[in-house]
Amino acid sequence: MEQSFVMLKPDAVQRKISGQIISRFENKGLTLIAMKMLHISEELAQKHYGIHKGKPFYNSLIDFITSSPVIATVWEGENAIKTIRNLVGSTNPQEATPGSIRGDFALNMTFNMIHASDAPDTAKSEIALFFNQDELQTYSPIINKWLVPE
Ligand code: PPS
Repeated sequence: MEQSFVMLKPDAVQRKISGQIISRFENKGLTLIAMKMLHISEELAQKHYGIHKGKPFYNSLIDFITSSPVIATVWEGENAIKTIRNLVGSTNPQEATPGSIRGDFALNMTFNMIHASDAPDTAKSEIALFFNQDELQTYSPIINKWLVPE
């Protein structure tokens, strides 16, 4: 089982499509283990996107992500990181495959709806940046008991 950090960016919240995006992960069979809505501070934004400091888009990315609330989530599942990246689509929505989240909902590189961890080490650090360990839920979906009777 792998965990991945996923953030619905301000444009997803403002366009009122958070539910549709979350449904795609649920439909895929991934398990939601943490979720919170927050208005990201400048400090948190700089930590999260620190790797991009100095790039031409850095300042506009920080301005955008701190402009209004986001929804931070953690998902668990088999090969969750790669599976989620496939569901999300390419960074540039104009190149994202139709059927992916960015392919279906986004047009602009900055306003690309969603962030998802790209590797196990980044997933670990991003989860720790946004959540305390005791905010990550551990549960065995009861439906598993119906599907696989003891
Ligand atoms: S890069 O170019 O390889 O550093 O890009 P990448 O690692 O895929 O993601 C960079 C994040 O910055 C956001 N962003 C942009 N990237 C590239 N060009 C422009 N103009 C740009 N504007 C914003 C991009 O959406 C990535 O954000 P996250 O939240 O990680 O998906």
